[in-house]
Amino acid sequence: MLAREDVLAAANEIQDPEYGLSLTDLHFIRDIMIKEDRVSATVLLSREDDEYKEQLQAGLSAKLLAAGAKDVHLRFRPLSEFERNDAARKLQERAAATEPAGEPAAPVMNILDPASGVKFIAIASGKGGVGKSTVTVNLAVALARIGKKVGIVDADIYGFSIPDMMGIEERPQLVNNRIIPIERFGVKVISMGFFVEENTPVIWRGPMLGKMLRNFFSEVEWGKLDYLLLDLPPGTGDVALDVHQMIPHSKEIIVTTPHATAAFVAARAGAMAIHTEHEILGVVENMSYYSCSQCGQKDYVFGRGGGAKLADELHTKLLAQIPLGVPDNHVAEPDYSPSVYKADTETGLIYKEVAETIASQLEQKGGPA
Ligand SMILES: Nc1ncnc2c1ncn2[C@@H]1O[C@H](COP(=O)(O)OP(=O)(O)OP(=O)(O)O)[C@@H](O)[C@H]1O
Ligand SMILES: [Mg+2]
Repeated sequence: MLAREDVLAAANEIQDPEYGLSLTDLHFIRDIMIKEDRVSATVLLSREDDEYKEQLQAGLSAKLLAAGAKDVHLRFRPLSEFERNDAARKLQERAAATEPAGEPAAPVMNILDPASGVKFIAIASGKGGVGKSTVTVNLAVALARIGKKVGIVDADIYGFSIPDMMGIEERPQLVNNRIIPIERFGVKVISMGFFVEENTPVIWRGPMLGKMLRNFFSEVEWGKLDYLLLDLPPGTGDVALDVHQMIPHSKEIIVTTPHATAAFVAARAGAMAIHTEHEILGVVENMSYYSCSQCGQKDYVFGRGGGAKLADELHTKLLAQIPLGVPDNHVAEPDYSPSVYKADTETGLIYKEVAETIASQLEQKGGPA
């Protein structure tokens, strides 16, 4: 049986004449589909002459047939300007990594490469306003509090909210043409909110989105990370799909409120995760109950059981039930942030437990983070 890896290995033997790196290294072979040893793929062309295209068609087909393909169907398309810049950057990185003299350049590894060891966790929900961003921020901070190296990508490109929620006012610096994420509570953060004028609507659509998101991975100097959390926009739209395509190895957490209809809608996000083969780490039920500060009694104001039912349906576990209540922070505090719960509060402790569960779940399976 021919596998995707075999196709990548075959393409790795073919060098692109413009960039001198292999098609695989340059990510010039895409949309690989294998069905009963029949291979189809898209190949990106750095040159537009037909001779080169024919040569590539023959060369790559031969390699694939030799690797065991029964039939090969290749589509070709020229590089976009963005892809050209990306390829040029890869070339620069290679040159820097192999530079013998002077300052030893740190090897730049694409964070999306599974070999980077970064564990991706996408936070998804079926509908808006259930607390995805709140959960993303607090889980990230909790992971950092237990000593993990953590980043957040605010992938909610239209409705970014992470900077405000964490009380971030500064903007990232550019160093050696790389974007340095903002660090807050030990978490490195990148958001669309850093790159648009205050409160101007983002009107980009479709393809721009995918590019923006890809830039958040490729142009940002993340450094060493154990976990990168992605705050997804609500629902099951194009960004969620882009994330799957870019990060097939990402895991997911589904957020819902306890109400039956919310859990019902959240099941769609779960179904999408299952469909795209993203492993679901669990369900977080947010706004589960109101804890009476006088008597400690729990009042289930939004109903009960939605999270547990959803976890059951998705064959996963209920990671936590988080009570109603906003963080007890004060604007005057130096590290004021509207949405981060303090470590020693009821909710802070619940997030700590979730962080520990996730860390032990993922680090046991995938080796140390
Ligand atoms: N446990 C909670 N108790 C009280 N308020 C909460 C709780 N969790 C979230 N909130 C508040 O509910 C609102 C929505 O939360 P949040 O922005 O995290 O949801 P979201 O799912 O990311 O929304 P969107 O779909 O708009 O991105 C925010 O004002 C947030 O402060
Ligand atoms: Mg949000």
